[in-house]
This record gives sequence, C-alpha cells and structure tokens, in this order.
Amino acid sequence: MRLLSSLFHSKRVSVNEGAAIDRRAFFSRFAVASAASAALFSRTNDASAIDELPEGVTPSNPRELLYPTPENHSVVFSPESGKFAASYPILQNVSYDSASIVWSLNTPSTGWVEWGPTPKLGKIARNSEFGLNPYEEDFLSARILGLQPNTIYYYRTATCAFSYRSAYDKTCEPAQYSDVYSFKTAGPNVEKVSFAVMNDTHNQIDTIRTLFDRFDDINPDFLVWNGDLCHRYPSSYIVKTTIANPCDRPYAAERPLILSKGNHDRWGPFAHKFTQIFTPWIQRNPRFRSLGYNVALRYGPLAIIVLDTADTKADDAPACQGLYSSTPYREQQANWLREALQQPEIANAPYLIAFCHIPLFEHTPKEDATPPAQMNWIPYHEAGRYFGPLFDEYGVQLLIAAHRHKFAYSEASPHRPWAQLLGGGPLMENATCIYAEANSNELVVNCEKLSDRSILGSWSFKPRF
Ligand SMILES: [Fe+2]
Repeated sequence: MRLLSSLFHSKRVSVNEGAAIDRRAFFSRFAVASAASAALFSRTNDASAIDELPEGVTPSNPRELLYPTPENHSVVFSPESGKFAASYPILQNVSYDSASIVWSLNTPSTGWVEWGPTPKLGKIARNSEFGLNPYEEDFLSARILGLQPNTIYYYRTATCAFSYRSAYDKTCEPAQYSDVYSFKTAGPNVEKVSFAVMNDTHNQIDTIRTLFDRFDDINPDFLVWNGDLCHRYPSSYIVKTTIANPCDRPYAAERPLILSKGNHDRWGPFAHKFTQIFTPWIQRNPRFRSLGYNVALRYGPLAIIVLDTADTKADDAPACQGLYSSTPYREQQANWLREALQQPEIANAPYLIAFCHIPLFEHTPKEDATPPAQMNWIPYHEAGRYFGPLFDEYGVQLLIAAHRHKFAYSEASPHRPWAQLLGGGPLMENATCIYAEANSNELVVNCEKLSDRSILGSWSFKPRF
C-alpha cells in the first residue's frame, strides 16, 4: 500500500553553496548516459554474445533469451525520466529487529532512508562508513536497525544525484523521494504466514513479470527468489533490468524479498558485487559474519532456513580458474546450520522448511537418477552430505529447491524424513509458482503451472509437535 506520493518533493542539500547547479548541463549528462545505455541495450540483447544457454533452452530458439531490451523494459525509470533512482525500493533482510532497503540508480548519487513507526517517519538510516556518507553509481542501500518484532514500520527513500568533480567542487542535487511504503518485521507472534517462491528465471523477463502478476493476486507475506535470477552477470545493467526493476512496479517495496543464491548467481564480473543488490544478513554469531546469504527466521508458526548450495563445479575444475571456494563455503554453512537449527525460536517452531537452489538429491530413480556426468554435480555430494543429516536430526519437513528446471516432488521416506519440492524452469511452458500458507493446524504448500495456473501438486504438513 502506497500511502503518500512525494516523488520530486525536494529539499536542497548542497555541499558547495558556491557552485550553482546548471540543470541543463546536469540533465544533458543524463542524455549521454541514455545514449550509453542504449548502446549497452543493443550489446546485451545480442543473442550471439551470449555464450551459455539456460538449461532447457536450445540454440535453435535464441529468442527465448529474453534479456530486457529497450522495447520491453520499463520506461518509468528511464534515464530520460529525470529520475535519479532507476527502480522502486526493494525491501530485504527483514528480521526481528532490522531491515534493509536497496534501490538502483540512473546516475551517481548519495541517499538515505527515512523511516518510523508512523507514516510521519522521523528517523534516518544511512549506510555511512568511516565518516563518509554513501556515494554509489549503480545501487544505494540503507539498513534500518533497532526494530521490534511483528511490528509495522514506514519508510521512503531519498536520492540525490551527486557530481564529484574535485575535492572542493562537488554538487548534491535536491533529494527525490519515493512514495512512503510500509512493512512488518518477522517474529513468532502472528497466527498465520504465507510466502511464494520463484526460481531459475535466467533473465526471462516475461516469466518474471507473469510471476509478479501472480504474486499480486496471491499477496504473500514474503517472497523467496530461489536462485539463478540471471543467467550470468556481465555488468550492473542486467541486475538493474532483471532484478531491481523488471516489471515497472514496486514488487518488493512492502513484501520482503529473500534471496536463495543459485549457481548462475556467481557467474560474471558483476556477480562479485552481488552485495550491492542483495545486502547481507546480519549474523548473530560473529564467527559466521561472512555468511551473508544464510538466514534462519521465524514467522508465526513457521521457521525457515535459507542455504546457498554454491556452484556446480569442483573448486579445482579448469572452468573455475581458481575463482571459487564452494567447498569450504558449504562446510562453514553446515556449522552455521547446526547452530541455527538449535536457536529456540527455530527449534520450537511448529513447521520447519528449508530453501536452497540446488536440490540435495535427484528425485526419482528413473531418467534423472544419474546427473549428467559432464556437470560433475559436486553439490549433490557435498551439500547433501553436509546439510541432509542436519535436516534429519533437527526435523526439517520440506526442502524447496530448484535448478533442474523441472517440477518434481519427492515425499519424505523412512531413510529421509523430509520432502523435496523442485520448482520449474525459466521458459513459460515449464515455469511454476509455488505458494504456501501456515497456521496452527497445517502448512499447505501448492505448486502451480505459471502459464495456466493448473495445480501440479498440493501438500499438507502437520505441526511437528
Ligand atoms: Fe541452477
């Protein structure tokens, strides 16, 4: 619910009173940026420049590689719009006592978040470091601290284009504000909770937009993007168009977006800057401070665990060129997972489910029983070995995974007391929408075909105790 429209409500914030702002010169720089952006559009939309295809996409149908183009991309935040921001806010890391807001930029800017317990706001969150306020080219973020569980808060973003010419010659434009949005912190004191899951979108902008249409109908309390958001990450452009603003509306300004990172989400130069678009979770134990994409949270009767299965290849595989450390990363996550599962609010939750991108086992003994040899499939062996026994020991009921681009469901069994649900793929014909609701009586999980909303499966889980 948007409460107040205040875009372009301006407040002069200048650090150089002597330097008058030449607005024509300023927006002419926007025009230059626009031309550069158009060049980038044509470059990144060239299917011949894409060297690896999503699983399930054959080279004979390159049109399926629907990288955002000037024709199908948003115009709301185009450089010509004059907006400093390039997206609506994306609400993330909403825990019991903190939240993070990220938004993308059209131009180098500084910015902050104004927030409070009422729409009057009144407080400021700004990610200042070492005496410097933020100055970013692609994404701004601000983390709000000191919140109470199960409580509603309000916020808006402020963005100021910033010209940085020299130490004594820089200009901060008047702030442009977003609308005021609200969100609710996580916590145990709610009767029911709902969530929805999307996965393996691989830049398929039509699939992403259809999913967000469906989520608007379902209106879940939170959203999990279960890995392989983009096929690869050559630059910030793909992140801005696919993740930050794929659908021209504030799809996650009030609905927390939780990332479960996939193997493709570590491919390409900008993958190393992933924390710009997905800010890390704050870990309670400083020993696990580097595990920014692992979280254990309680929402009413439901507890969730988010893991990162990392890459598919062995760290010493020639294709990795020494750039990955997936094995020690999984080992550290296993140590984190044991501690997370022992936290009282997780251990005593009526329902306990986990999310990760790569499934922990192949789901049938038939055609999928043997993973393709050329892929090596290290995560099946490592993540399954590290995480699976802890799922057994601490009573995880369901793992929601992805990666195979094919819906599948495996019931719990005597030797594996947790079920595994896999979402579908990036193309509309096999894309799925997973949604669930938990109350004191049952947790119901549904998986539907995105194209026609036919139900592929619906499963009911009873409280663990
Ligand atoms: Fe994947």
